[in-house]
Amino acid sequence: MKKAFVIGHPIAHSLSPLLHGYWLEKYKIEGRYDAINVFPDELNQFVTRLRSGEFVGGNVTLPHKHAIFGLCDEIETDTRIIGAVNTLIMRDNKLVGSNTDQLGFAANLDQMAPGWDKKKGEAIVLGAGGAARAVLVALASRGISHIHILNRTAQKAIDLANELPGPFSGHALTHFTQLASDAQILVNTSSIGMHGTRFEDLPLNNLPRSALVTDIVYTPLITPLLKDAQKAGLKTVDGLGMLLHQAVPGFKAWFGTRPEVTTELRELLINKLRQS
Ligand code: ATR
Repeated sequence: MKKAFVIGHPIAHSLSPLLHGYWLEKYKIEGRYDAINVFPDELNQFVTRLRSGEFVGGNVTLPHKHAIFGLCDEIETDTRIIGAVNTLIMRDNKLVGSNTDQLGFAANLDQMAPGWDKKKGEAIVLGAGGAARAVLVALASRGISHIHILNRTAQKAIDLANELPGPFSGHALTHFTQLASDAQILVNTSSIGMHGTRFEDLPLNNLPRSALVTDIVYTPLITPLLKDAQKAGLKTVDGLGMLLHQAVPGFKAWFGTRPEVTTELRELLINKLRQS
């Protein structure tokens, strides 16, 4: 039986077992996907188990997303740029580390807002932390003409724009007012929105009517930013789809079937989130 995992510490609240378990059942695959609590000092030992053939691969979450780099045989190019591994695949006896978040981000928008990347216009990304990197790589790979990174600490946005390959520039959050009118997509990657927190002074009315607003935060599902965008009459996409779509390439690599992201699966996860 093929076995996959998600490792992290803590790991009890991971939604991944529910998600992959649903697909294993749906496609009648004889396999398992389990959450395994791995302490930082146990990571080496766990990788030995993985290399011994016990697993086909799995997901990696905090605090191992960086430490795992040094333990892989191959790292995909985008993953190096993003700077974090979230998916491990045993391929020809080699341990391959990849990051599927940028694919998940773009696939979610493809499903929920088809043509989002075809509109003539710039992008604004709020936040310049670890979570911003996958979104920036995704936007650049889809050919968005210019991507403005806006951050509370402007210098971090400027440094990130200089570091990553692509049409990026960095600014303070306050620059939103001037930049908004040329943007067709606004993405929040900062931790604002979690537990209902909101941006002060973000005049969404300055965005064109046709702009799309999306948030990678999904607790709550409709963040205050998305609520404000809806009030302003803008199209919105929530962040749960990114979580669902980032899981697709891993499942395909481990179990051989490309799984579908359906409304039923979304509802299953929404119900689980409501309970926790
Ligand atoms: P992650 O890996 O999840 O991106 P992170 O690297 O700690 O986490 O980044 C958090 C992001 O949210 C940063 O861009 C941070 O802005 P700063 O660089 O100025 O710290 C942003 N953020 C967190 N709290 C914020 C707040 N109250 N207002 C505005 N931005 C905030």
